[in-house]
Amino acid sequence: MALSDKDRIFTNLYGLKPWNLAAAQMRGDWDGTAAILAKGRDAIVEDIKNSGLRGRGGAGFPTGMKWSFMPKQSDGKPVYLVVNGDESEPGTCKDRDIIRHDPHKLIEGCLIAGFAMGATAGYIYVRGEYFNEIAVLEAAIREAYDAGLLGKNACGSGYDYDLYVHRGAGAYICGEETALIESLEGKKGTPRLKPPFPAAMGLYGRPTTVNNVETIAVVPTIMRRGPSWFASFGRPKNQGTKVFCISGHVNKPCNVEAEMSIPMRELIERYAGGVRGGWDNLLCVIPGGSSTPLLPKHICDDVLMDFDALREHKSGLGTAGLIVMDKSTDIVKAIQRLSQFYKHESCGQCTPCREGMGWVNRMMLRMVEGDAEIEEIDVLEQVTRQIEGHTICALADGGVWPVQGLIRHFRPEMERRIYARKGIPMPMAAE
Ligand SMILES: Cc1cc2nc3c(=O)[nH]c(=O)nc-3n(C[C@H](O)[C@H](O)[C@H](O)COP(=O)(O)O)c2cc1C
Ligand code: SF4
Repeated sequence: MALSDKDRIFTNLYGLKPWNLAAAQMRGDWDGTAAILAKGRDAIVEDIKNSGLRGRGGAGFPTGMKWSFMPKQSDGKPVYLVVNGDESEPGTCKDRDIIRHDPHKLIEGCLIAGFAMGATAGYIYVRGEYFNEIAVLEAAIREAYDAGLLGKNACGSGYDYDLYVHRGAGAYICGEETALIESLEGKKGTPRLKPPFPAAMGLYGRPTTVNNVETIAVVPTIMRRGPSWFASFGRPKNQGTKVFCISGHVNKPCNVEAEMSIPMRELIERYAGGVRGGWDNLLCVIPGGSSTPLLPKHICDDVLMDFDALREHKSGLGTAGLIVMDKSTDIVKAIQRLSQFYKHESCGQCTPCREGMGWVNRMMLRMVEGDAEIEEIDVLEQVTRQIEGHTICALADGGVWPVQGLIRHFRPEMERRIYARKGIPMPMAAE
């Protein structure tokens, strides 16, 4: 059964109504916020734990648990919430629509989440290319200050909370939480080793929680409608509603909020107008933004869109950005283009990433043409295993996973090109 409109959190996702405070309040935002805060820090964290909310930025870490890592007692010095709106993963454009069409959901979420983790201020880091979105967000924050919803005695709660917008400069790596913190501090955005985790040493060396835009923007509705309402969607450990971004070879590319664990096929056919040329024309889908391994059609036929189901198939929900590819796709070329992206975005600190992604991309360029030996497919696979898990941050993992997915599911196509280029028939076993 499709998610009904009354259960959608982002009721202005398509910007059909104004984003401003008056319109947002008509949609239920900022309703009884002081009463939510009056429940107290622990009760809010408990509610978020019970809702089953897992981070929407890619890794799916349980949100309530993350908040509980923040210090319980204040030492009188600042503590921060940092909201990650860097949104640079190819295939992903959900935070953008939340920021520009429903900014008050995010702002109210910043207040409630900030209060729950004992934060004294919040920063929203938005990718620099989102120029118009940032203008909307800044105007919405001004409205909230003018209405007494932010700042001293926010919402009349007795809690003081300031919220700032920071504009990024357009680097994918600045979405990684430690790089983002460095960038916020005015330094070059390069990741650092964890531990220490941001909850122990984050922005300006102070306890910090970094959460994705969507993670924070769903918090007010969870608090108003109750954790069990949110937890009623999706399978255990994969609960809630979720904004999916559907792009590529579909008839109606779109962002849509649906229930977690919805079958992929239903998601694409119900909301994105189906695959161009019909479902049988599907080649494969990248299910969770460019860093998640592709899934061929036979898996897409009945896979569910949630963290655990996609992991069982050696892929992931990631950012829930589906890139749909039909049979007209040059799949080796498509994956090579992603290798080029990750090579370009490497910050260069770790040798396996800096040198490895360049090597992988050069190898993939040859694979596109079939200009390789059959054994080199195994060499390529082995090199991706040497890169994976051997670097400071997960950019390199995300860079090699698409290649591993290609070899896992489309090895015969890679071999076909090599034989074709050599002008020799493909052995039966390889077909
Ligand atoms: C290379 C790289 C890029 C990332 N980019 C983003 C991003 O644009 N937005 C985001 O929310 N998380 C991004 N993340 C994940 C963050 O490091 C972090 O896990 C996330 O913001 C936590 O929020 P959540 O718990 O609400 O998901 C990225 C991670 C890596 C390794
Ligand atoms: S894995 Fe790549 S992007 Fe991440 S820190 Fe190392 S070099 Fe930089």
